[in-house]
Amino acid sequence: MDLHNIRETYNFDSLDIDKLKDGPMAQFQYWFEQYKQLCIKDYNAMAISTVHKDIPESRIVLLKEIRDNGYVFYSNYSSAKANALESNPNISALFFWREQERQVRISGIVVKTDVQESKSYFETRPYLSKIGAAASDQSQPITSRQELEEKFDSFTKKYPEGTEVPMPENWGGYLIIPNRYEFWQGREGRLHDRLVFCLEDGHWNIKRIQP
Ligand SMILES: Cc1cc2nc3c(=O)[nH]c(=O)nc-3n(C[C@H](O)[C@H](O)[C@H](O)COP(=O)(O)O)c2cc1C
Repeated sequence: MDLHNIRETYNFDSLDIDKLKDGPMAQFQYWFEQYKQLCIKDYNAMAISTVHKDIPESRIVLLKEIRDNGYVFYSNYSSAKANALESNPNISALFFWREQERQVRISGIVVKTDVQESKSYFETRPYLSKIGAAASDQSQPITSRQELEEKFDSFTKKYPEGTEVPMPENWGGYLIIPNRYEFWQGREGRLHDRLVFCLEDGHWNIKRIQP
């Protein structure tokens, strides 16, 4: 397949240091709100990358909360990503907002969120999502689809709809505490705007980098 001739022009917006909101979190929130208004399915999706034994791996998760100190997603604490984060808590989160020709890269460190906070969120999840989380040993092999469905069914029998589905012990939130952001705005002629915030001695330093 030859994709060499696929080219886009980017002219939706521009980004300059004097246009930035007050700090990277405010800037992120500003762009995120703008993207949210487009009501695109899974607008809160982000690709997170982890490194395990020098091998990088990425996958999509859903951003569930923006806090003053970072970004929360939920997952299985025994999954491949959890295994990677256990030995190397460095993480990168990537947002691609195509309609606005924007990309945001965030690097940081993860910490697990408080169990009670995870429980509070778990309780708000739809019944089938709770059962799915309880029934799946995420990232572990299983012999067949049938075995997976039987496992799911056994959990629906154990916890019929309307009863309390306990949060699995190996499930919960991760908080990404950022130390670097890059805001990318596509521009004409590939002269894209790239503004980087780095946390140094407790202060966010800003620089423009070349496209
Ligand atoms: C749109 C979308 C949303 C997803 N949201 C989550 C999520 O919030 N949490 C999660 O653990 N996995 C989520 N996944 C599944 C992950 O991409 C991945 O398959 C899973 O977490 C296992 O990854 P791992 O084996 O690297 O741990 C989502 C996938 C897609 C495509």
